[in-house]
Amino acid sequence: MSLKPKEDYIKIGFCTDNINEILSLAESHYGLDTRREDGFHSSHKDTRAALLQFNWALEDRNEAEPIYLLYRDLLEPVLNKLKNKYNYSNFSTWKIVIAELEPNGHIGAHKDTHLSFDLTHRCHWILKTNKDVVFKVGDSTLPTEAGAIYEINNTERDHEVFNGGSESRIHVIIDCYNNV
Ligand SMILES: [Fe+2]
Repeated sequence: MSLKPKEDYIKIGFCTDNINEILSLAESHYGLDTRREDGFHSSHKDTRAALLQFNWALEDRNEAEPIYLLYRDLLEPVLNKLKNKYNYSNFSTWKIVIAELEPNGHIGAHKDTHLSFDLTHRCHWILKTNKDVVFKVGDSTLPTEAGAIYEINNTERDHEVFNGGSESRIHVIIDCYNNV
């Protein structure tokens, strides 16, 4: 049974705590580890990412990258919102990535296909955006506002992003699940 939302996306909440601190900290971490850009049939060629937790295999899913320690307290408010939303007995994260999409950058339409995506909720926390960002999931276009937290149906719906603005768009992407 899919744990994905029946809708293209759902809004989980809103959090602006520590956004500026995370944005400035991440500046020195983008692009250090290019596993994400190098994979996924080039849909991420216009992005740079800071990988805080980037696991694929079930047995590795609780591993974190060393830089995660720098962000752990800063992410606590948003992780608490996700915990409250899903109300799992053992809420855990499988991937946490801070992803920057450059001006005029495009992530082409795709579905996410991997076991790790089937077993997690794909949540986006918007840190920085602009009025010319278009984020489509299925037939919907997400309203984008810094601070908004969404879950998207990333396995069953095509999703696509275009940043038509002159500044980068930055999201924290969190894959979470019940670790039982
Ligand atoms: Fe995707």
